[in-house]
Parts: sequence; structure tokens; C-alpha cells
Amino acid sequence: MSGNLRILIVGKGAREHALAWKIKQSLLVSDIFIAPGNGGTSQIAKNLDISETDISNLLNFAVSENIDITIVGPESSLELGIVNVFKARGLKIFGPTKEAALIETSKDFAKKLMLDNDIPTADYKTFDTYLDAKKYVNSISLPFVIKADGLASGKGVFIANSYDEANKFLHEQMVEEKLGVAGKKIVVEEFLSGQEVSVFTFVDGVNISSIVAASDYKKLLDGDLGPNTGGMGAYSPPVDWNEILSKNIKDNIIFPTIRALSSLGTPYSGILYSGLILTKEGPKVLEFNCRFGDPEAQTILPLLKTDLVELILKISDNKLDDVNVEWADQCAVSLVIASAGYPDDYFTGYAMSGLESINDSILVFHAGTQMNSSSNSFVTNGGRVLTLTSLGKNLQEARNDVYENINSKQLFENMFYRKDIANF
Ligand code: AMP
Ligand code: GLY
Repeated sequence: MSGNLRILIVGKGAREHALAWKIKQSLLVSDIFIAPGNGGTSQIAKNLDISETDISNLLNFAVSENIDITIVGPESSLELGIVNVFKARGLKIFGPTKEAALIETSKDFAKKLMLDNDIPTADYKTFDTYLDAKKYVNSISLPFVIKADGLASGKGVFIANSYDEANKFLHEQMVEEKLGVAGKKIVVEEFLSGQEVSVFTFVDGVNISSIVAASDYKKLLDGDLGPNTGGMGAYSPPVDWNEILSKNIKDNIIFPTIRALSSLGTPYSGILYSGLILTKEGPKVLEFNCRFGDPEAQTILPLLKTDLVELILKISDNKLDDVNVEWADQCAVSLVIASAGYPDDYFTGYAMSGLESINDSILVFHAGTQMNSSSNSFVTNGGRVLTLTSLGKNLQEARNDVYENINSKQLFENMFYRKDIANF
């Protein structure tokens, strides 16, 4: 780092560690702050004791410390309108406004937008009363999908293979309010079958960058069993990814979505994450997210050849077309190392050891870790603890490198990971 830009990153996961790692490579940058960050980010940036949802203290910090640009990781900060608040003060910030972020934060909004603009997606119906929802789900054929309308950290989606399960989930959401207000309104949608891909595009309101795609493993256990999680591993590019598919997705999904948000008066700026299923009839949208994926960020950022800070500055000036966004012609595999119990209850505070025995070919991104300054060592502090990423000329090479480096290592007590990431 030899430039003079002061950067603030908001968030605390491995995604934000990957952002900090990438930003540190920029020649434009002098200082990186991260709020609140984690044990890993404390080694390459200055962690701040400010939560990602404490928008007023984030703003105070950015103003008083002359931050040149703020980069937002999680959807929770975006939903609270961090971008609106910073922009109103004339500060540069990367991410969509609260209104444009509705594309992720309200499934109902996203579905209406797709329907109104002929963007291919699963058929759906929205309900805000339990009795109507119950009557409907018992009248349609299985399987189908029930989703909480609001943000639910991946816990608000249920694939129903029986009416009993469907009724139980509906009751939990709409009567017991297990996810609070997020589940008071629900969407019931058609089950789509096919390969799932996560597609990422930089957007400046009007223009979009070249796209990059990854495949994420959402289920906890090998063989795609167990509950949904935030993601247990990812690889890029997806199997069978090609230029024709990429163009099809740009023309039929991404451009129409960006134009639709513009014409609503809420242009989208930031990174757009389209969660798609490649069905027999073509790609269809499962969901949009208004941020980088986690663990997909840890997979795709190491493939980004372009200077991320230069790119973000161009986006903030609505000049994305001035930069050629280039992705390395390599493959990447990321493996999430979790604490047993995740995504439900898990212990924290396990001492970590053996990180130094991991080869330099592996990028180690921290999530739920903390630096214990008295012992100068890391302890676990979350469910997803680390992501290990390796690049290779093919997926097999990258995958072997990751697993060879982790097999037979015990980095902390009750460590857990999937054994089948990118194993075909
Ligand atoms: P979401 O939070 O909407 O991404 O859903 C979480 C996961 O549930 C997705 O990544 C899919 O694996 C699965 N899923 C969601 N909706 C559908 C659907 N309509 N058809 C098939 N699988 C789905
Ligand atoms: N890996 C899925 C997500 O970030 O939503």
C-alpha cells in the first residue's frame, strides 16, 4: 500500500476479511479500518469496536477520520440504509441504497419486480395471514418452497416434501413467529430443479461489469444433507459454465433487473448477486442479494485481477464502463471450517492452533475468530470460523490443495467441515 486513500470496511465475516485482503493489494490505499472485523482482519487492518448495524457511529467515524470510501459487506447494514445516510452526508460508499437493497431484503418486492419485467423466476404467491397460507399449501402439489419474506440469515427457506412438514413450518413462522417479523409474511413458490449458481456483477446504476459465477454448498452435510446454512464451501467457475450461458444471464436477467430498478427511481449500485437455478427451460432466479456472497466472496475475490479500489471509485462516479473488470482464467475452491453445532448452537472460545502449518498456497480467511492479545493467539468466536481458498489450473488441483492442507489437522476443538466440496 503506498497511496493515500483511507478505506472503511463494514462487517465481520470471512467475506470482509477477503475484501480487506484484496483492498490491501491496491496501490491507491494507505489505511484500512474494519468495523467490527475479526481476528484475521486485525492482522491486516485496524479493527474498530463498532457494530455493522451501528450506522450513526459508523458515520461519525467516517467523518472524523476522513474516510475516502466505505465498503459494506453485510445486508443488515444495507437494510438499515447505511448508504442513504452516508450519501446524504456527501460520503462515498459502495453498496445499494435501502430502496435498491429491497431486491434482497423483501422477497415480495423482488418477486413483483421480476413478474412485472418478465424476468424468469419460479411462480409464487404471497400471504400475510396464516389461514390463507395454510389453505393454499394444502391445495398444491409437492414439492414446493416456503420462504419468510424478510431477512432470515438463510433460515427462512423451507423446501416442503410433505404436507405435515409444510404445516409445521408455516405455524412456526406465522403463528409462533420463530423468526420474528421476518416470517409474518411468507412467499410460497414453485420448486425449481437444476444446477444452482451464484452470479456476481458490479453495477453502477446503469452499466454492468463482466460477470463471474460460483457454486455454493448451502447444506450443512456431505451429499447436500442436513439444514441450510450460510454456505459451507464454494468453487468457481461452476461446472459447464460458458460464454453463451453468461450472455443469456446478462441479457435476460441482469440488464432487465438493473433497468427495472432504475425506472422505479431506485437505481442499483454495488455488487449484484443473482442466485439462479439452471432449469431445463433456461436460467431462473431463485433470489437476488444486494452484496457479495459468503463464502463466494472468498472464492471470487482471489480471481479478480482488477484493482478493487479503482473499480469501486469508478462505480461511485457512475463510470463503471471506464474499467475493464478482469477475472483470472483459473479455478478456485473454498472450504468453510465450522464449529460443531453450527448453524444452531455452538460453543465459542476454543483456542486455535496449527494455522501456521497451512501452506502459503492457501488463503486463510477468518470469520468467527478473535485475537486474544494476552496470549497472542486466536480463539473461535462464531459458527463459521475460517474459509480456506486455493487457486489452481483446474478445480481438481485447487480442491486437492485445500483438502491436503486440512486433512488430519485439528485447528480447534470440535472443528467440522464438509468433505465433498468440488468433488464430482
Ligand atoms: P434462498 O434464501 O431463497 O436463496 O433459498 C435458500 C436455498 O433454498 C437456495 O439456495 C436453494 O438451494 C433452495 N431454494 C430456494 N428456493 C427454491 C426453489 N424455488 N426451488 C428449489 N430450491 C430452492
Ligand atoms: N452463500 C450464500 C450467501 O451469501 O447468501
